[in-house]
Amino acid sequence: MEFIRAETVTMDFGGVRAVNSVDFAVKHGQIMGIIGPNGAGKTTFFNMMTGFYRPTAGRFFMEDQDITGWPRHRIVQAGIARTFQNIRLFGNMSVIENVLVGEHTNIRSTLLGALFRTPAQKRDEARAYKKAEELLDFVGLLEKKSEYAANLSYGKQRRLELARALATEPKLLLLDEPTAGMNTSEAISVLELIHTIRDTWKVAVILIEHNMQVMMGTAERIIALDAGTKIAEGTPKEIQYNEKVIKAYLGEED
Ligand SMILES: Nc1ncnc2c1ncn2[C@@H]1O[C@H](COP(=O)(O)OP(=O)(O)OP(=O)(O)O)[C@@H](O)[C@H]1O
Ligand SMILES: [Mg+2]
Repeated sequence: MEFIRAETVTMDFGGVRAVNSVDFAVKHGQIMGIIGPNGAGKTTFFNMMTGFYRPTAGRFFMEDQDITGWPRHRIVQAGIARTFQNIRLFGNMSVIENVLVGEHTNIRSTLLGALFRTPAQKRDEARAYKKAEELLDFVGLLEKKSEYAANLSYGKQRRLELARALATEPKLLLLDEPTAGMNTSEAISVLELIHTIRDTWKVAVILIEHNMQVMMGTAERIIALDAGTKIAEGTPKEIQYNEKVIKAYLGEED
């Protein structure tokens, strides 16, 4: 069954149509890829799906519930988490605190509890901390848990963003160029991580990725955007040899 579905979604910024009437669907546990040249509308599509922007037209459905225009926190609680093309971490907080921020969306807290720290709340906090450690272990950052996030290498910051996104217990994970700036071996290990995430928690993944080789080895199905419009959809093989896709990328190199 489909987990998320976009119907003729459009986004205008003033006179610029960034996304043009795109249809799209992802099934539970599926790894889907979005490719397209710079400015194709990939990040804008994520921004609409996660409540950063409200689409100018069209709708998003999650398991047939209309989620168009929902605020960000509600979309996170409903099960969609993301990472950012430009890493967004709290650099002056520790690594583990950054993961706890992600978990916080699911922890009950009250003003009284914050003032007096009831036993129930202490238990919640201990549980949250243990879970954060497990997630850091999973992404290979447990030894770094007390370091400032800003002091991590670029590749490790991307892994930390992944851990923070997982902390919200998503059913769908949106990854905006998760291997950007990484060398090949780092990139491969992140791709393995993405498959493990899907296999372990049955999380669906939508991946924006410029590196075609990376995309071919990871996504089960790909859509290609060009100037906001969907120009192709299919298996990696089909997309690789699609004439419109080849043309879109050749145009970019001129
Ligand atoms: N907040 C905004 N205000 C105005 N224009 C925007 C805004 N966000 C994106 N755009 C424009 O929308 C178009 C699509 O941008 P978007 O960032 O979605 O592309 P992209 O496919 O993610 O590109 P890249 O591969 O460079 O990340 C571009 O023309 C961009 O300038
Ligand atoms: Mg982008």
